[in-house]
Amino acid sequence: MKWIKWEDKLITGHAGMDHGHEGLIDLINQLADAMENNKPKELCSNLLEQFVEHTRTHFVAEEQLMDRLRYPKLAEHKALHAMLIKDVLTFKAVYDAGASTEFMTLLVILDTWMNRDIMGADKALADFAAATSVT
Ligand SMILES: [Fe+2]
Ligand SMILES: [Fe+2]
Repeated sequence: MKWIKWEDKLITGHAGMDHGHEGLIDLINQLADAMENNKPKELCSNLLEQFVEHTRTHFVAEEQLMDRLRYPKLAEHKALHAMLIKDVLTFKAVYDAGASTEFMTLLVILDTWMNRDIMGADKALADFAAATSVT
């Protein structure tokens, strides 16, 4: 099952960011598939780890872009990234510890990421970058 479909509303218009988001969504779908089909926990945990790592790299790239642009909403956007990473890591810690985790919890975190980060903060950043022609 595809949890999240790559669709037009997710496009920010910044090629680098869009490429990163597409890769992250692909990982989320692999993770959903593994969890849904009761694949070994180690595999799921590994995919979750990969998602965290790719997300971190992606966030760093966006934050470097904001630095280059002297983006006025840098602090706000960085705080949002920090919150999302913290939420995913908290979920992963609970999952790895073997406690019963509600998969819905992860869905809620990812939904926040898509709505507030990609469709909100990232889109605004992409528009700002386009207006200043910094890539
Ligand atoms: Fe992003
Ligand atoms: Fe972002």
